[in-house]
Amino acid sequence: MSSKIIAGVLASGRGSNFQSILDKISSGELSLQIGVVIADKADAYVLQRAAAAGIPAVVILRQDYSSKEAFEQALIECLQAHKVELLVLAGFMRILSSQVIRAFPEKIINIHPSLLPSFPGLQAQKQAIDYGAKYSGCTVHFVDEGMDSGPIIMQAIVEVAEDDNEASLAAKILEKEHEIFPRVLQLYVQGKIAVQGRQVKILK
Ligand code: GRF
Repeated sequence: MSSKIIAGVLASGRGSNFQSILDKISSGELSLQIGVVIADKADAYVLQRAAAAGIPAVVILRQDYSSKEAFEQALIECLQAHKVELLVLAGFMRILSSQVIRAFPEKIINIHPSLLPSFPGLQAQKQAIDYGAKYSGCTVHFVDEGMDSGPIIMQAIVEVAEDDNEASLAAKILEKEHEIFPRVLQLYVQGKIAVQGRQVKILK
């Protein structure tokens, strides 16, 4: 049996992206092992999903640490203890500082519900509606020290209908998220993602 890359998942909430990753692993379309799921909220639904799948789930709360640095050190130690090689941010609502980025260089991947660089940060779907964008979508990207600013790996587009609201747009985008996030992770484990500065190429 060939050994699989071990991923750690950081999430803050419902974990539907995490579930889509698990589903693709189950169907054999994604050849990845999830070593641990870490949530920064004790009631995050993602924890139940992890438990149901028999995956180690850990809660690490910012308020239990005196500084962001100490909190992130705890994250890093937990990830290392689970032998994590790839860090997947699936709805993790915090910006990671350079100590985490340095611990996993070019090995942290995030999904954001807009076509970056438009609408980074919180409430991306609302931002798109308020702005009057005709198209939006989602972006899978490597994480750097900025907010949603790292090199773009893949994007998917949805049309913003005139009667869309934040919730309906979020639902449309989420469908695309569930398609492209596992696809990118499979390309990653296959060694098909090449990064040069901001340019990301998908190798044949
Ligand atoms: C998704 O919209 C994702 O793009 C954003 O946070 C949300 C997480 O949703 N980063 P879920 O927890 O995966 O259901």
